[in-house]
Amino acid sequence: MTKRIAILGAGPSGLAQLRAFQSAKQNGEDIPEIVCFEKQDDWGGLWKYTWRTGVDQYGEPVHGSMYRYLWSNGPKEGLEFADYSFEEHFGKQIASYPPRAVLFDYIEGRVKKAGVRDWIRFETAVRRVEESENGFKVTVCDLPKGEEYSEEFDHVICATGHFSTPNVPEFEGFDNFAGRILHAHDFRDALEFKGQDILIVGTSYSAEDIGSQLWKYGAKSITVSHRTAPMGYKWPENWAEVPLLVKVDGKTAHFKDGTSREVDAVILCTGYQHHFPFMDEALNLRTANRLATADLYKGVAFVNNPDLFYIGMQDQWFTFNMFDAQAWWVRDAIMGKIDIPTDKATLIADVNDRVAREDAGESDYDAIWYQGDYIKELIAETDYPSFDVEGACKAFKEWKGHKKEGIMTFRNNSYTSVMTGTKAPVHHTPWKDALDDSLEVYLQN
Ligand SMILES: Cc1cc2nc3c(=O)[nH]c(=O)nc-3n(C[C@H](O)[C@H](O)[C@H](O)COP(=O)(O)OP(=O)(O)OC[C@H]3O[C@@H](n4cnc5c(N)ncnc54)[C@H](O)[C@@H]3O)c2cc1C
Ligand SMILES: NC(=O)c1ccc[n+]([C@@H]2O[C@H](COP(=O)([O-])OP(=O)(O)OC[C@H]3O[C@@H](n4cnc5c(N)ncnc54)[C@H](OP(=O)(O)O)[C@@H]3O)[C@@H](O)[C@H]2O)c1
Repeated sequence: MTKRIAILGAGPSGLAQLRAFQSAKQNGEDIPEIVCFEKQDDWGGLWKYTWRTGVDQYGEPVHGSMYRYLWSNGPKEGLEFADYSFEEHFGKQIASYPPRAVLFDYIEGRVKKAGVRDWIRFETAVRRVEESENGFKVTVCDLPKGEEYSEEFDHVICATGHFSTPNVPEFEGFDNFAGRILHAHDFRDALEFKGQDILIVGTSYSAEDIGSQLWKYGAKSITVSHRTAPMGYKWPENWAEVPLLVKVDGKTAHFKDGTSREVDAVILCTGYQHHFPFMDEALNLRTANRLATADLYKGVAFVNNPDLFYIGMQDQWFTFNMFDAQAWWVRDAIMGKIDIPTDKATLIADVNDRVAREDAGESDYDAIWYQGDYIKELIAETDYPSFDVEGACKAFKEWKGHKKEGIMTFRNNSYTSVMTGTKAPVHHTPWKDALDDSLEVYLQN
């Protein structure tokens, strides 16, 4: 095989793609030449913590959106790799909501074992991807040297993530607010806000989790402002849900229902944008953050040029094992084992069908099963180890129930692995008391 493949990004999605090709190689197959470009100096994507915010040492936008003390917000039993279990990695079963460092270690373990690090060019930022006579021209910058160069590829797989470029709305009076205003993307350490009254805008996972961190690490009060609906959990005493922010005046925040509160800081947990500034106009994916992305056949092949693939662009109930399902499928499409229809109308019909099926769902449970079915559909077409996707959906269902019972206690529960059948131990310390989130302490079970 003489094909050349460019993988953009070495986060969980890009690493899934590397592992997919490596597993074919391990099985004696002739695989294409793989080059992965990663702008950071290490792999792991968002899971590689950085203290930096704004721009990095090279003036590049900082990719990291994760913060200190972040623990998985869903049970690990929903994201486990089918070809590399937690037990294989840690030598024992571990509790169900690992902190960031533990999940980073797990992600890294599989690709270290696969021996694919040499396929990655670190500190190399993708600057431009455009169509060329035989495929794609990819222009990158070697950041330490400050040198740009271009290479030709038959296929490009974009795995640069979509939770890094913040969506930042403005509210009246922000110019003169007498405190700090930041987006969740730049939040790093809850201790910065100890003893303060904090306003959060948004009601999704960042709002819930950053608010919970602030509570755990000693903020005085947390007020969460919603545009559509409150989250509705049983919150602690110093936590309030209020309608949408209208304006701020000095340190006073005014809400749609006419009420107001004094706050020290505003944290905008208002989501992220799919942003691919390096993609030529004709190749740029424009989609909302949803389960059925726009313009991707089978959720991965770009309908306007199916030699280009995007991985991990869906909103996410499932993460790591969904990226695997996509990566194995893309590998097989590239290696000629799966045929992608040649007429654009068929590709678009597939996208429209996915959108209609997602829209027909009425609840979060429908959404979980929808994404589970998507994973089943992809893995049925490849040799990715089959696993009990239904069981993983059930773990998510239980998780949602546990959150309703206690939003500050749900992480104390444990679930059964659908890969190994082993039940996770209950963690040694309730989440609210576990202030040290290091790997060493977490693994003390
Ligand atoms: C705050 C936060 C918490 C989360 N918590 C969880 C959780 O608990 N559980 C869970 O399953 N998921 C969680 N997620 C979801 C997360 O999206 C996935 O777990 C996963 O990180 C997605 O992997 P990815 O490879 O698609 O993207 P990313 O992890 O974002 O990786 C993309 C990679 O592409 C690189 N890149 C970007 N642009 C360029 C460029 N121009 N040139 C070269 N390289 C580039 C980046 O440096 C990065 O390494 C969380 C997300 C956020 C924001
Ligand atoms: N510990 C963890 O594991 C953890 C922690 C944080 C984040 N995450 C992950 O990070 C990803 C992103 O989550 P996210 O919460 O940042 O984004 P998100 O799920 O896209 O939610 C965006 C939120 O912002 C609100 N919003 C957007 N524009 C607004 C505006 N102009 N005014 C008011 N509200 C506005 C939305 O409100 P509407 O509902 O009105 O649209 C929504 O509540 C998820 O995959 C999540 O799982 C995980």
